Amino acid sequence: MGKGVFITFEGIDGVGKTTQLNILCKQLQKLGYTVVKTREPGGTWLGRQIRQILLAPTDQAISQQAEILLYAADRAQHVQEIVKPALAAGKIVVCDRYVDSSIAYQGYGLGWDVEAIVQINQKAIDGLMPHLTLCLDNEPELTLTRTKGDRIEQRDIAYYQRVRQGYQEIAQQYSERFKIISAQGSIEEVSQRVWKIIQERGLV
Ligand SMILES: Nc1ncnc2c1ncn2[C@@H]1O[C@H](COP(=O)(O)OP(=O)(O)OP(=O)(O)O)[C@@H](O)[C@H]1O
Ligand SMILES: [Mg+2]
Repeated sequence: MGKGVFITFEGIDGVGKTTQLNILCKQLQKLGYTVVKTREPGGTWLGRQIRQILLAPTDQAISQQAEILLYAADRAQHVQEIVKPALAAGKIVVCDRYVDSSIAYQGYGLGWDVEAIVQINQKAIDGLMPHLTLCLDNEPELTLTRTKGDRIEQRDIAYYQRVRQGYQEIAQQYSERFKIISAQGSIEEVSQRVWKIIQERGLV
């Protein structure tokens, strides 16, 4: 790994990842750091093609293995093309979602084999894990009203509860790297919690 710092954001839909990532990047830039802000899926040209395949409405089935591999292919390209070169150049890379999203969404959310997802992703990440993962946590009942509007179905809530629980499991397993942050309260309050952890970790 290079001399840079790799930080990822995680959490369920609408919890405030992109909002907090933007604030953090601005704070770091103000302090003079060179920051690369990126995201998965879709951080590269190949990734954007893959994202379109995954999100296109179709009645054609995509198998579990194929879906896991498509996300992993996006990740592999992103790691090689964007993340690793930036870290080698000493930059701070802040990424919206990474391998934990595959584990939480496909593994815990959809009930697919977590071990298989981890295995497939080993090749994609090529040994690169974040120095710190900031996982924002809040009630799906609240966060989904931000992304899906008022009509949220019970099965959506149940699915996101499982994803949220998945993140809790990941936090127990990787307590050093993976930090859960309450996303309750104002954007300002949450950003202060994020900044406190960045400072505590001595990352800046
Ligand atoms: N603490 C907060 N209080 C109230 N509103 C918030 C808070 N944080 C974010 N929001 C608002 O909620 C919406 C979703 O936030 P954001 O896009 O950052 O979430 P996200 O986790 O990136 O969502 P997605 O998973 O869909 O990418 C935005 O309109 C944002 O302004
Ligand atoms: Mg977002």
